[in-house]
Amino acid sequence: MKIAIGNDHAAVEMKNDLIAYLTEKGHEVTNFGTDTNDSCDYPDYAKKVCDAVNAKEADFGILCCGTGAGMCIAANKIKGIRAMLCDNTTTAHLVKEHNNCNVITLGARVTGILAAHEIVDAYMGAEFMGGNHERRINKFMAFEAE
Ligand code: RB5
Repeated sequence: MKIAIGNDHAAVEMKNDLIAYLTEKGHEVTNFGTDTNDSCDYPDYAKKVCDAVNAKEADFGILCCGTGAGMCIAANKIKGIRAMLCDNTTTAHLVKEHNNCNVITLGARVTGILAAHEIVDAYMGAEFMGGNHERRINKFMAFEAE
């Protein structure tokens, strides 16, 4: 799969680890994040990843910051994006199956790296179920036009 990944200064290590993990599995990962620990602003990186997802340059996006919260809020302000903060594998597969999330966010100061691998695997192994879920998504995506 093609994956766009981004991060702020709090999540450089997590981002680098995930790039290595996913590349090793044969995925094509594009790094839109910062590579230094110098303080920066997470919305800048959320925008880059979400633009790549909306342009279909990536199948989905991963955004990492300290808690995953700022990245999630920022990403959900961008039209076309359905992002969710995932700190467990149940949420990770359900946000794909039910909400068709095209971005997941992770908190490097909260979630350990092995858990992050399992969370990403759970999301990537899931498929959108459509049906009632699609109807509900269409309803909230229509909010963007208001
Ligand atoms: C940066 O200190 C921190 O606020 C950021 O990484 C993130 O946790 C925001 O939600």
